[in-house]
Amino acid sequence: MKATPDYTSRMYTMSEEIYLDAPDIGDGEKKYLNEALDSGYVSTIGPFVPEFEGTFAKYLNTERAVSTQSGTAALHMALYELGIGKGDEVIVPALTFIATANPVRYVGAEPVFVDVDSKTWNIAPDAIEASITGKTKAIIPVHLYGNPCAMDEIMKLAGKYNLRVVEDATESLGATYKGGFSGTFGDFGCFSFNGNKIITTGGGGMVVGRDSAKLEHIKFLVNQARDESKGYYHPELGFNYRMTNIEAALGLAQMERLQGFLAKKRAFNDLYRQELSNIPTLHFQETYEGAEGSWWLTCLSIGNKADIPALQRALKERGIQTRRLFMPLTESPLYRAHKKAALENSYRIYESSLCLPGSTRNNDDDIFSVCKAIREFVM
Ligand SMILES: Cc1ncc(COP(=O)(O)O)c(C=O)c1O
Repeated sequence: MKATPDYTSRMYTMSEEIYLDAPDIGDGEKKYLNEALDSGYVSTIGPFVPEFEGTFAKYLNTERAVSTQSGTAALHMALYELGIGKGDEVIVPALTFIATANPVRYVGAEPVFVDVDSKTWNIAPDAIEASITGKTKAIIPVHLYGNPCAMDEIMKLAGKYNLRVVEDATESLGATYKGGFSGTFGDFGCFSFNGNKIITTGGGGMVVGRDSAKLEHIKFLVNQARDESKGYYHPELGFNYRMTNIEAALGLAQMERLQGFLAKKRAFNDLYRQELSNIPTLHFQETYEGAEGSWWLTCLSIGNKADIPALQRALKERGIQTRRLFMPLTESPLYRAHKKAALENSYRIYESSLCLPGSTRNNDDDIFSVCKAIREFVM
């Protein structure tokens, strides 16, 4: 029996569905959650928070990880710590979730939207270079759906133009590029543990990096910039962006299962490619040389004459959950006036593609069923 969200019910309602991105919660999670609840440390103080941060930093082989309330808060803190602000421009891809761009606004800067590469669907290094102005201060590469960006080219550009790099690794935990984990190349890397992500804390995020002093400062900022040695003394403007001990308990248990989640997501991605490889109009995200995706979600492009809503309806009738790609951010009223170029690839990919079931609660047979349904629709 499988579950599909019914937001009016305290339980997921039971129905035969193939999940898009349902969380995978097991006995280990329940054990740590109960420990957190029984301990009384239900809020932002408690042992699971440093343990989760330490485990996360060790996994990524990075100096320090600071937990936050969300991936959005992580991105906000990274930009804030780098001193990005009024009058500055930050380069972001047009094809991403709005939470990549909004933190740029939170710090008073302006996002500049650039097109993505037609094959990898990630921010295109040549488009970045063409968009750099005297006001550009940073780049936010997004490892879209778990596919690593061309980080060596992006870091080279950052060096050439003296730009900061904040990686939006919210969808790419475990993805690697030339031996390094996504999120560990730039000044900071930001992760999300929203309920639909590779691991979840219910809602939460993490900032990682190599500059321990800057990360300690972020740790201080997210705690209302409180100097606890002096009681309630706040020498700076702070934020309440802390993760709770309950969330960290869930996160730690999920970290213990990360390798299994990644193996399953990668196997699903391979199966989709294998099963649909003989239909020439179908395409998946390609990877850069030296990259291995974590494939948070596998997305499929069905070509220029795509009727994505019709495909979605056909799959839904078979109990298969899907979702549209992110609408290019220049379609949002917030950012319409920021559209300075055609952003052709971003629009074409959005119009022709669909995110397929990627939850690790599915099994191989589920993926075969999805492929069969897609074949019937397109052939
Ligand atoms: C690309 C991208 N950036 C940022 C975020 C924001 O993360 P959160 O939902 O944890 O704030 C998400 C996920 O929701 C995302 O997919």
